[in-house]
Amino acid sequence: MNKTVGIFDSGLGGLTAAAEFEKLFCGKRYIYFGDTARVPYGTKSADTICRYAFQDTRFLVDKGASLIIVACGTVSANAIDELKRHFALPIIGVVDPAAKRAAEVALAGKGRVTVLGTSATVKSGAYERAIHKIDKSIEVRSVACPMFVPLVENGYTKGEAAMLFAKEYLEPTLDFSADAVILGCTHYPHLSGVIGTVLEGSILVNSGKEAALAAAEYITVDETEKGEPDFYVSDAPESFTRLAKVFLGRDGVERAKCVDIESY
Ligand code: DGL
Repeated sequence: MNKTVGIFDSGLGGLTAAAEFEKLFCGKRYIYFGDTARVPYGTKSADTICRYAFQDTRFLVDKGASLIIVACGTVSANAIDELKRHFALPIIGVVDPAAKRAAEVALAGKGRVTVLGTSATVKSGAYERAIHKIDKSIEVRSVACPMFVPLVENGYTKGEAAMLFAKEYLEPTLDFSADAVILGCTHYPHLSGVIGTVLEGSILVNSGKEAALAAAEYITVDETEKGEPDFYVSDAPESFTRLAKVFLGRDGVERAKCVDIESY
């Protein structure tokens, strides 16, 4: 009756999970943290990503979260096992749910999956491992797309700049003709328009959405507390709030509050 879901990301990307949570758990409260002072995570070392992930999780637990959605591909790929070992509450990452969905699509097609992610996610090999745990025969190609996160954080999700980088990163993969393309960084579904245009014919898997769907298997709508979401960031709450309204597709998003995440 009074459980609360906590969602975190380095910035705006986790809103792709939050948007799906709002659909599934209509009118139910959640707590969102975006680490806007330290974004991007995807260019950092695994040790730094892990340290940030512990602080983000501690903050949400401190605010009363009873389940955590790690709505960040980079953290899910580099620190999920450490988080699960350390915290005594359900922790759902994006890698396994997205890999499962992509594998289903691939196994009904030519058996090919492209993974798009941050440099740290691609370097970790986490998506390949998760897909090959399901079926070793699936061919996987991974592509790091480091400019996608700054584009999204600055609101450039459509138009020439977004298309330029989408072509730069994705055209070299067209020969692979993947059945499924995992948007393995939760920022990337905000760029679905340009990505889908370049990779026409492949099914795009939204990792944030898949994580929210996976969370719904752990917690029921009835168990969760009613109310508006609380948004927290570590810097620049105005610009986060402005873009959060766009990405959640609704008004009435309360102004994000600022938190000193280094103190957690
Ligand atoms: N949205 C995150 C991810 O899913 C983090 C991107 C970043 O901060 O580099 O990987």
